[in-house]
Amino acid sequence: MGDGGGGVVVIRSARVGDGPAVASVFASARAEMTYLPVLHTAEEQVAFISACVAGGSWVEVAEVVPDQVVGFCAVRDGSVDHLYVTPERQGSGIGRALLNRAMAAYPLGLSLRVFELNDRARSFYFREGFVEWERTDGSGNEEQVPDIVMWWHGR
Ligand SMILES: CC(C)(COP(=O)(O)OP(=O)(O)OC[C@H]1O[C@@H](n2cnc3c(N)ncnc32)[C@H](O)[C@@H]1OP(=O)(O)O)[C@@H](O)C(=O)NCCC(=O)NCCS
Repeated sequence: MGDGGGGVVVIRSARVGDGPAVASVFASARAEMTYLPVLHTAEEQVAFISACVAGGSWVEVAEVVPDQVVGFCAVRDGSVDHLYVTPERQGSGIGRALLNRAMAAYPLGLSLRVFELNDRARSFYFREGFVEWERTDGSGNEEQVPDIVMWWHGR
């Protein structure tokens, strides 16, 4: 991606050592989602995200060259488990670039869950081609907050 004044952003595969930097992006974005209960300590979040980066998931990061991780996307079993951009970098095309990379890697389709209250992410996913599949009362997620399953049918 080009330089929008804040440095050159590249999308690349995550490396095992990215765990703490990716966890920091996750924490900063989640801190703004004030409708969610805080269920875990910072240490638990780092352990959770580092495990996700280290194995089992397809993970790509957005990096401001040379070494500042500002966003990431994690996919597991055809589901986008995480897509987060650090707040000060949101709205500059990074989320779209990460999601488009995932869509290219999973041309048979992708699903995801988004909290019902997350209007901005819902409209973002809709613009990128995802449609609403199912609404839940939140009893199936850890936060117990109503969410929506969205689906992109692939290309
Ligand atoms: C949802 C999220 C991942 C989207 O990523 P993003 O980088 O902010 O998204 P993009 O910049 O690619 O596109 C979003 C907006 O920027 C605009 N945009 C896209 N490219 C742009 C560019 N080059 N310059 C300026 N604006 C741009 C889009 O039109 C869009 O407009 P909106 O503000 O009305 O939504 C990000 O906002 C985020 O991390 N949110 C908090 C965590 C979250 O909700 N994650 C999803 C969990 S399911």
